[in-house]
Amino acid sequence: MPLVAEHIQNLEPYRPGKTIDEVKREYGIEKIVKLASNENPLGVSPLAIQAMIGSIHQINRYPDIASLLLRNKLAELFKVGFDSIVTGHGSEAIMQTAVRTFLMNGEEVITAEGTFVGFYVMVKACGIKMNLVPLKDYGFDLKAIVDAITPKTKMIYLVNPNSPTGTIYTKGEFEEFMKAVPPDVLVMVDEAYIEFVKDHPEFPDSMDYRYDNVITLRTFSKAYGLAGIRIGYGFAHPELITQMHKVRLPFEPGIPSQAAGVAALTDKQFLDYYLKLNSCGKQFIYDVYDKLGIQYVKTEANFIMSIFDSEKRVNDITEKLMRKGIIVRGLKAFLLPHCIRVTIGLPEENEIYADALKLVL
Ligand SMILES: Cc1ncc(COP(=O)(O)O)c(C=O)c1O
Repeated sequence: MPLVAEHIQNLEPYRPGKTIDEVKREYGIEKIVKLASNENPLGVSPLAIQAMIGSIHQINRYPDIASLLLRNKLAELFKVGFDSIVTGHGSEAIMQTAVRTFLMNGEEVITAEGTFVGFYVMVKACGIKMNLVPLKDYGFDLKAIVDAITPKTKMIYLVNPNSPTGTIYTKGEFEEFMKAVPPDVLVMVDEAYIEFVKDHPEFPDSMDYRYDNVITLRTFSKAYGLAGIRIGYGFAHPELITQMHKVRLPFEPGIPSQAAGVAALTDKQFLDYYLKLNSCGKQFIYDVYDKLGIQYVKTEANFIMSIFDSEKRVNDITEKLMRKGIIVRGLKAFLLPHCIRVTIGLPEENEIYADALKLVL
């Protein structure tokens, strides 16, 4: 018997963008601008920092297995029952719990070609067959996904706004889609970037619909600036949540993560300031791209995807930017090898990026 299953031997692991320290070391540069992972460039909410510090003396104990305070806060904010909420070590952990809870041998998953690479890796690691439907105008093509459903389809993974393209599907598209999806097919809606699009009149917040077969995923890693402490949450029908609780790691998320999550939800000032900063940064980068004649996709999130004519060109640009200390993300692993995603940074970071890009091009 082989030691490692074939699907694991053949698995391409998740490769994040290079870290600041790696680039400093490899290229011998001191000042690094990291625009590769859609993190909050402002830093961390001061209220979340205080809460983490306040919780630190408790970490000789295991965390509250029920995430009581955090789930109560989420229940109050989203007006849902406590038993409709799951928390995890980042939303990716909840995604993984859902995959392990609901997918059985022989069942299949559908998602888009050109979406979050973490999901591709996770499904492949479980040896589950994944059917990828091409994007339409760089957005999820919900009609084509419905057409791809077969009796083996168990789960559909949607990302709205999509990463790495920044596009959204609309309320009308989602409602039509949900009418066509059989009730025994689970729809996992990843809303990691929802805070950036909340006020868009056409955006379908999956929490405004209470479909029994929809799992909503949210994270504190993006708008809330807590990527490093790993904390996410999800909503679904209590029966689905009960099953997921059997499978998830019992003690995730950790004590400081739970405390930070509760505090971050109350720090409206930090969130509002960041959302404004992001809007201004978006316009700045659009203007730069327009001037440079770079093709890009209009975004509803905190990153912008630009389109080039080849993977070779993308590699050339990302490498030259890296040599100048600027880390952006080439999108081969996201199945868009001719595209680059850049996170909208602080105003001075966007300027450094723009100046470097002019030189590189
Ligand atoms: C669409 C999407 N979902 C999930 C994640 C991961 O989020 P978390 O940090 O909560 O695991 C990311 C991170 O890049 C993402 O882009």
